[in-house]
Amino acid sequence: MEFKGADILSAKQFNRGDIETVLKTAAKMEPFASKKKWGDLLQGKLMASLFYEPSTRTRLSFETAMNRLGGRVISSVGMQFSSLTKGETLYDTGRVIENFADVVVMRHPDDGSVEKLARGTNVPVINAGDGANEHPTQSLLDLYTIQKELGQLDGLTIAMVGDLKFGRTVHSLSQMLSHFGAEFIFVSPPELKMPESICRLLKEKNITYRETTDMAEAMKQANVLYMTRIQQERFEDPKEYEKHKGGYILTRELVEEKNPKLVIMHPLPRIWEITADTDDVPGAAYFRQVANGVAVRMAVLALVLGKSP
Ligand code: NCD
Repeated sequence: MEFKGADILSAKQFNRGDIETVLKTAAKMEPFASKKKWGDLLQGKLMASLFYEPSTRTRLSFETAMNRLGGRVISSVGMQFSSLTKGETLYDTGRVIENFADVVVMRHPDDGSVEKLARGTNVPVINAGDGANEHPTQSLLDLYTIQKELGQLDGLTIAMVGDLKFGRTVHSLSQMLSHFGAEFIFVSPPELKMPESICRLLKEKNITYRETTDMAEAMKQANVLYMTRIQQERFEDPKEYEKHKGGYILTRELVEEKNPKLVIMHPLPRIWEITADTDDVPGAAYFRQVANGVAVRMAVLALVLGKSP
């Protein structure tokens, strides 16, 4: 893809070469992301952060990325404080925002919402999570993490566990990993299975996946265990969430018994699905994932703004 000026809306936009470009660029950003140096690559550029759904990591890591590369940030956080509550369309918000910012990062509770805003604006728009749909930059940082943890991306077995229906991170990640010949084990309750639309895409690419409810068995075969939070806010009936609460819980004991070499990932926030005693297991990579997020977001911002490190 031509990165300069591009909107980053979906994992579908990325081929293998595009992913490699982002990961290579991210590696060059490490000195800045790891707080050793301040950069000036994005000096003179302004990023608008539009977060209409809760976020800690994603917003702060984008804003950190921009600031540490010499760029500046403006934010609109919380739907209730935006003109969307007055009835403004996303298209119009897009028209407005291009007068202020050089790049937009946006999160919103509705599937497809970020694309709607992107249609109204002529600056690059980055999807930081649209409903249960996608979260492409999370997947790029997940791939960067896997590469750093295991030294490779090709031919791995990845077990994804938890809420595969509403979890946008696994929707984007499975599509991106499909370029690297991954094998998937999807572990979830029957009601929270990976959507048919994603399974179809994997089938078209001849990617092997199987579905199970047995996490312990999947752990034995996987190189990477990607845990997810049950997405409480997406359930219409609170009783449904209660039913799944406490379903899959990863403990240190389980890792040591089933597969001590597992790389354990989680986009965070974790609620109850990984116990705190697991954090000291050597393969527990979820906090390293957060650090990697800054370098990857620096890379994405630089690429869409046409700046090379
Ligand atoms: C994820 C998200 O918002 O989709 N969080 C994140 O961006 N790191 C995962 C989640 O909220 O469960």
